[in-house]
Amino acid sequence: MGWPIAHSRSPLLHNYWFQKHGLAGTYVPVAVRPEGLETALRALPALGYAGCNLTIPLKQDAMKIVDEVDAVARRIGAISCVIVRPDGKLAGTNNDWFGFVHMLRQEQPGWRAGAGPAVVLGAGGGARAVCYGLLQEGAKEIRLVNRTYARAQALAAEFGKTVKPLHWEQRDDSLEGAATVVNATSQGMTGQPALDIRLDRLGKDALVADIIYSPLETPFLAAARGRGNRTVCGLGMLLHQGRPAWKAWFGIDTEVTPELRSVLERSFA
Ligand SMILES: NC(=O)c1ccc[n+]([C@@H]2O[C@H](COP(=O)([O-])OP(=O)(O)OC[C@H]3O[C@@H](n4cnc5c(N)ncnc54)[C@H](OP(=O)(O)O)[C@@H]3O)[C@@H](O)[C@H]2O)c1
Repeated sequence: MGWPIAHSRSPLLHNYWFQKHGLAGTYVPVAVRPEGLETALRALPALGYAGCNLTIPLKQDAMKIVDEVDAVARRIGAISCVIVRPDGKLAGTNNDWFGFVHMLRQEQPGWRAGAGPAVVLGAGGGARAVCYGLLQEGAKEIRLVNRTYARAQALAAEFGKTVKPLHWEQRDDSLEGAATVVNATSQGMTGQPALDIRLDRLGKDALVADIIYSPLETPFLAAARGRGNRTVCGLGMLLHQGRPAWKAWFGIDTEVTPELRSVLERSFA
Protein backbone atom coordinates (compact mmCIF):
# COMPACT_ATOMS: atom_id res chain seq x y z
CA MET A 1 0.00 0.00 0.00
CA GLY A 2 1.22 3.47 -0.83
CA TRP A 3 0.17 6.74 -2.40
CA PRO A 4 1.14 6.76 -5.22
CA ILE A 5 1.96 3.08 -5.81
CA ALA A 6 2.20 2.60 -9.60
CA HIS A 7 6.02 2.93 -9.57
CA SER A 8 6.46 0.15 -6.98
CA ARG A 9 8.68 -2.80 -7.91
CA SER A 10 7.42 -4.85 -4.95
CA PRO A 11 4.78 -6.78 -6.97
CA LEU A 12 7.55 -7.95 -9.33
CA LEU A 13 9.68 -9.05 -6.38
CA HIS A 14 6.99 -10.87 -4.40
CA ASN A 15 5.23 -12.45 -7.37
CA TYR A 16 8.62 -13.86 -8.45
CA TRP A 17 8.81 -15.58 -5.05
CA PHE A 18 5.18 -16.79 -5.27
CA GLN A 19 6.07 -18.53 -8.52
CA LYS A 20 9.44 -19.78 -7.26
CA HIS A 21 7.90 -21.35 -4.14
CA GLY A 22 4.82 -22.68 -5.97
CA LEU A 23 2.53 -20.81 -3.60
CA ALA A 24 -0.98 -20.02 -4.78
CA GLY A 25 -1.14 -16.33 -4.05
CA THR A 26 -0.48 -12.93 -5.45
CA TYR A 27 0.97 -9.59 -4.38
CA VAL A 28 -1.02 -6.62 -5.57
CA PRO A 29 -0.22 -2.91 -5.49
CA VAL A 30 -2.98 -1.00 -3.71
CA ALA A 31 -3.15 2.78 -3.92
CA VAL A 32 -4.37 3.99 -0.53
CA ARG A 33 -4.77 7.62 0.51
CA PRO A 34 -3.53 8.34 4.05
CA GLU A 35 -7.11 9.03 5.19
CA GLY A 36 -8.17 5.57 3.98
CA LEU A 37 -5.29 3.65 5.57
CA GLU A 38 -7.13 2.43 8.66
CA THR A 39 -10.08 1.06 6.64
CA ALA A 40 -7.69 -0.56 4.15
CA LEU A 41 -5.57 -2.22 6.85
CA ARG A 42 -8.60 -3.44 8.80
CA ALA A 43 -9.95 -5.05 5.62
CA LEU A 44 -6.86 -7.26 5.20
CA PRO A 45 -8.05 -10.23 7.35
CA ALA A 46 -11.48 -10.38 5.69
CA LEU A 47 -9.88 -10.24 2.25
CA GLY A 48 -7.66 -13.20 3.14
CA TYR A 49 -4.34 -11.38 3.01
CA ALA A 50 -1.35 -12.59 5.06
CA GLY A 51 -0.18 -9.00 5.35
CA CYS A 52 1.17 -6.09 3.35
CA ASN A 53 4.06 -3.70 2.94
CA LEU A 54 3.71 0.03 3.39
CA THR A 55 5.51 2.75 1.53
CA ILE A 56 5.48 6.55 1.29
CA PRO A 57 3.55 8.28 2.84
CA LEU A 58 1.92 5.61 5.02
CA LYS A 59 4.79 4.20 7.10
CA GLN A 60 4.41 6.56 10.05
CA ASP A 61 0.61 6.74 10.00
CA ALA A 62 0.33 2.96 10.41
CA MET A 63 2.00 3.17 13.84
CA LYS A 64 -1.24 4.54 15.30
CA ILE A 65 -3.47 1.97 13.59
CA VAL A 66 -2.06 -1.55 14.02
CA ASP A 67 -2.65 -3.58 17.20
CA GLU A 68 1.01 -4.33 17.95
CA VAL A 69 4.16 -2.41 16.99
CA ASP A 70 7.40 -4.30 17.64
CA ALA A 71 10.47 -2.73 19.25
CA VAL A 72 12.32 -2.31 15.91
CA ALA A 73 9.49 -0.37 14.27
CA ARG A 74 9.13 1.74 17.41
CA ARG A 75 12.83 2.59 17.37
CA ILE A 76 12.84 3.38 13.64
CA GLY A 77 9.53 5.22 13.99
CA ALA A 78 7.91 3.62 10.97
CA ILE A 79 6.20 0.40 9.87
CA SER A 80 7.26 -1.14 6.56
CA CYS A 81 5.49 -4.49 6.97
CA VAL A 82 2.15 -5.56 8.46
CA ILE A 83 1.41 -9.15 9.45
CA VAL A 84 -2.15 -10.45 9.86
CA ARG A 85 -2.32 -12.70 12.93
CA PRO A 86 -4.58 -15.81 12.97
CA ASP A 87 -7.09 -13.90 15.16
CA GLY A 88 -7.21 -11.02 12.66
CA LYS A 89 -5.05 -8.67 14.74
CA LEU A 90 -2.46 -6.59 12.87
CA ALA A 91 1.22 -6.55 13.82
CA GLY A 92 3.64 -3.95 12.48
CA THR A 93 7.39 -4.24 12.02
CA ASN A 94 10.15 -2.59 9.99
CA ASN A 95 12.35 -4.61 7.64
CA ASP A 96 14.14 -1.74 5.87
CA TRP A 97 17.16 -1.87 8.19
CA PHE A 98 17.45 -5.63 7.53
CA GLY A 99 17.33 -4.93 3.79
CA PHE A 100 20.09 -2.34 4.08
CA VAL A 101 22.40 -4.53 6.17
CA HIS A 102 21.90 -7.69 4.12
CA MET A 103 22.40 -5.77 0.87
CA LEU A 104 25.86 -4.77 2.13
CA ARG A 105 26.62 -8.24 3.54
CA GLN A 106 25.78 -9.88 0.22
CA GLU A 107 27.28 -7.33 -2.17
CA GLN A 108 30.32 -6.30 -0.09
CA PRO A 109 31.15 -9.34 2.07
CA GLY A 110 34.31 -7.70 3.46
CA TRP A 111 32.42 -4.63 4.70
CA ARG A 112 32.34 -4.02 8.45
CA ALA A 113 30.28 -1.23 10.03
CA GLY A 114 32.84 -0.85 12.81
CA ALA A 115 35.80 -0.40 10.41
CA GLY A 116 35.58 3.39 10.60
CA PRO A 117 33.21 6.36 10.78
CA ALA A 118 30.01 6.21 8.74
CA VAL A 119 28.35 9.25 7.16
CA VAL A 120 24.59 9.14 6.66
CA LEU A 121 23.10 11.90 4.52
CA GLY A 122 19.43 12.47 5.35
CA ALA A 123 17.30 12.07 8.47
CA GLY A 124 13.98 10.78 7.09
CA GLY A 125 12.46 7.32 7.40
CA GLY A 126 15.12 5.69 5.18
CA ALA A 127 17.96 7.30 7.14
CA ARG A 128 16.46 6.11 10.43
CA ALA A 129 16.46 2.51 9.14
CA VAL A 130 20.05 2.91 7.87
CA CYS A 131 21.23 4.28 11.24
CA TYR A 132 19.46 1.46 13.08
CA GLY A 133 21.12 -1.10 10.78
CA LEU A 134 24.58 0.47 11.15
CA LEU A 135 24.22 0.46 14.94
CA GLN A 136 23.07 -3.19 14.92
CA GLU A 137 26.19 -4.01 12.90
CA GLY A 138 28.46 -2.32 15.44
CA ALA A 139 29.09 1.15 14.00
CA LYS A 140 31.10 3.24 16.47
CA GLU A 141 30.53 6.66 14.92
CA ILE A 142 27.73 7.82 12.63
CA ARG A 143 27.96 11.36 11.29
CA LEU A 144 24.41 12.33 10.47
CA VAL A 145 24.14 15.20 8.02
CA ASN A 146 20.74 16.60 7.14
CA ARG A 147 19.42 19.68 5.36
CA THR A 148 17.18 20.39 8.35
CA TYR A 149 19.56 20.27 11.28
CA ALA A 150 16.80 19.95 13.90
CA ARG A 151 15.74 16.64 12.35
CA ALA A 152 19.31 15.28 12.55
CA GLN A 153 19.50 16.46 16.15
CA ALA A 154 16.20 14.76 17.04
CA LEU A 155 17.33 11.47 15.50
CA ALA A 156 20.69 11.64 17.30
CA ALA A 157 18.93 12.33 20.61
CA GLU A 158 16.82 9.19 20.12
CA PHE A 159 19.58 6.89 18.87
CA GLY A 160 22.29 7.79 21.39
CA LYS A 161 25.69 9.39 21.28
CA THR A 162 27.16 7.19 18.52
CA VAL A 163 25.08 9.35 16.17
CA LYS A 164 26.52 12.84 15.78
CA PRO A 165 24.31 15.44 14.09
CA LEU A 166 25.97 17.78 11.60
CA HIS A 167 24.78 20.81 9.63
CA TRP A 168 24.16 20.52 5.88
CA GLU A 169 27.03 23.00 5.28
CA GLN A 170 29.38 20.42 6.83
CA ARG A 171 28.53 17.67 4.35
CA ASP A 172 31.71 17.92 2.24
CA ASP A 173 33.97 17.99 5.33
CA SER A 174 32.06 15.16 7.02
CA LEU A 175 33.49 12.72 4.46
CA GLU A 176 37.06 13.07 5.77
CA GLY A 177 38.20 9.67 7.09
CA ALA A 178 34.81 8.01 6.52
CA ALA A 179 34.76 4.25 5.83
CA THR A 180 31.09 4.14 4.77
CA VAL A 181 28.93 6.84 3.19
CA VAL A 182 25.20 6.42 2.60
CA ASN A 183 22.86 8.72 0.71
CA ALA A 184 19.48 8.42 2.40
CA THR A 185 18.08 11.69 1.05
CA SER A 186 15.68 11.75 -1.88
CA GLN A 187 18.22 13.69 -3.98
CA GLY A 188 19.26 11.84 -7.13
CA MET A 189 15.98 9.94 -7.40
CA THR A 190 14.32 9.97 -10.83
CA GLY A 191 12.72 13.41 -11.17
CA GLN A 192 14.88 14.98 -8.43
CA PRO A 193 18.12 16.97 -8.80
CA ALA A 194 21.42 15.25 -8.00
CA LEU A 195 22.73 15.27 -4.44
CA ASP A 196 24.82 18.40 -4.05
CA ILE A 197 28.06 17.17 -2.44
CA ARG A 198 31.80 17.26 -3.23
CA LEU A 199 33.68 14.00 -2.78
CA ASP A 200 37.25 15.41 -2.72
CA ARG A 201 37.78 14.67 0.98
CA LEU A 202 36.56 11.09 0.78
CA GLY A 203 39.19 8.34 0.88
CA LYS A 204 39.31 6.04 -2.15
CA ASP A 205 38.82 2.95 0.01
CA ALA A 206 35.48 4.15 1.44
CA LEU A 207 32.33 2.24 0.52
CA VAL A 208 29.64 4.48 -0.97
CA ALA A 209 25.99 3.38 -0.92
CA ASP A 210 22.76 4.98 -2.06
CA ILE A 211 19.40 3.67 -0.84
CA ILE A 212 17.76 5.02 -3.99
CA TYR A 213 17.21 2.35 -6.66
CA SER A 214 15.46 4.41 -9.33
CA PRO A 215 17.70 5.13 -11.17
CA LEU A 216 19.93 2.17 -10.37
CA GLU A 217 22.96 4.47 -10.46
CA THR A 218 22.37 7.96 -9.09
CA PRO A 219 24.71 10.81 -10.12
CA PHE A 220 26.19 10.56 -6.59
CA LEU A 221 27.06 6.87 -7.08
CA ALA A 222 28.36 7.51 -10.59
CA ALA A 223 30.69 10.22 -9.23
CA ALA A 224 31.94 7.91 -6.46
CA ARG A 225 32.50 5.02 -8.89
CA GLY A 226 34.25 7.40 -11.30
CA ARG A 227 36.87 8.27 -8.68
CA GLY A 228 37.46 4.63 -7.73
CA ASN A 229 35.20 4.04 -4.70
CA ARG A 230 33.25 0.79 -4.32
CA THR A 231 29.54 1.53 -4.72
CA VAL A 232 26.24 -0.17 -3.87
CA CYS A 233 22.84 0.95 -5.12
CA GLY A 234 19.58 0.64 -3.17
CA LEU A 235 18.07 -2.23 -5.16
CA GLY A 236 19.54 -4.85 -2.82
CA MET A 237 17.88 -3.11 0.14
CA LEU A 238 14.48 -3.44 -1.53
CA LEU A 239 15.12 -7.10 -2.37
CA HIS A 240 16.42 -8.16 1.04
CA GLN A 241 13.70 -6.37 3.05
CA GLY A 242 11.26 -8.81 1.43
CA ARG A 243 12.91 -11.84 3.06
CA PRO A 244 11.75 -11.33 6.68
CA ALA A 245 8.29 -10.44 5.33
CA TRP A 246 8.04 -13.87 3.70
CA LYS A 247 9.23 -15.55 6.87
CA ALA A 248 6.54 -13.72 8.86
CA TRP A 249 3.71 -14.13 6.33
CA PHE A 250 4.32 -17.71 5.16
CA GLY A 251 7.13 -19.18 7.30
CA ILE A 252 9.24 -19.46 4.15
CA ASP A 253 12.95 -18.59 3.81
CA THR A 254 13.43 -16.76 0.53
CA GLU A 255 16.64 -15.87 -1.26
CA VAL A 256 17.95 -12.95 -3.25
CA THR A 257 19.54 -14.61 -6.26
CA PRO A 258 21.28 -13.11 -9.32
CA GLU A 259 18.24 -14.20 -11.37
CA LEU A 260 15.83 -12.29 -9.14
CA ARG A 261 18.08 -9.25 -9.22
CA SER A 262 18.21 -9.28 -13.02
CA VAL A 263 14.40 -9.55 -13.22
CA LEU A 264 14.15 -6.35 -11.20
CA GLU A 265 17.02 -4.65 -13.05
CA ARG A 266 15.35 -5.33 -16.39
CA SER A 267 12.27 -3.44 -15.17
CA PHE A 268 14.38 -0.27 -15.12
CA ALA A 269 15.71 -0.73 -18.67
N1 LIG B 1 16.00 0.87 -1.16
C1 LIG B 1 14.97 0.85 -0.35
O1 LIG B 1 14.42 -0.19 -0.02
C2 LIG B 1 14.47 2.16 0.24
C3 LIG B 1 13.79 2.18 1.47
C4 LIG B 1 13.36 3.41 1.98
C5 LIG B 1 13.59 4.58 1.26
N2 LIG B 1 14.24 4.52 0.05
C6 LIG B 1 14.52 5.74 -0.72
O2 LIG B 1 15.21 6.67 0.10
C7 LIG B 1 14.85 8.01 -0.24
C8 LIG B 1 14.41 8.75 1.01
O3 LIG B 1 13.21 8.15 1.49
P1 LIG B 1 12.60 8.51 2.92
O4 LIG B 1 11.45 7.61 3.15
O5 LIG B 1 13.68 8.57 3.96
O6 LIG B 1 12.07 10.00 2.63
P2 LIG B 1 11.78 11.16 3.68
O7 LIG B 1 11.42 10.61 5.01
O8 LIG B 1 10.85 12.09 2.98
O9 LIG B 1 13.21 11.90 3.85
C9 LIG B 1 13.77 12.63 2.78
C10 LIG B 1 15.18 13.10 3.18
O10 LIG B 1 15.75 13.78 2.04
C11 LIG B 1 16.15 15.09 2.44
N3 LIG B 1 16.00 16.05 1.35
C12 LIG B 1 14.89 16.28 0.61
N4 LIG B 1 15.14 17.24 -0.29
C13 LIG B 1 16.43 17.64 -0.12
C14 LIG B 1 17.27 18.61 -0.74
N5 LIG B 1 16.83 19.38 -1.75
N6 LIG B 1 18.55 18.71 -0.32
C15 LIG B 1 19.00 17.94 0.69
N7 LIG B 1 18.26 17.02 1.34
C16 LIG B 1 16.99 16.86 0.94
C17 LIG B 1 15.24 15.44 3.61
O11 LIG B 1 15.81 16.48 4.36
P3 LIG B 1 14.90 17.40 5.32
O12 LIG B 1 14.79 16.66 6.62
O13 LIG B 1 15.65 18.67 5.40
O14 LIG B 1 13.56 17.56 4.63
C18 LIG B 1 15.19 14.09 4.34
O15 LIG B 1 16.34 13.90 5.09
C19 LIG B 1 13.76 7.90 -1.30
O16 LIG B 1 14.37 8.06 -2.56
C20 LIG B 1 13.24 6.48 -1.15
O17 LIG B 1 12.74 5.93 -2.34
C21 LIG B 1 14.70 3.34 -0.45
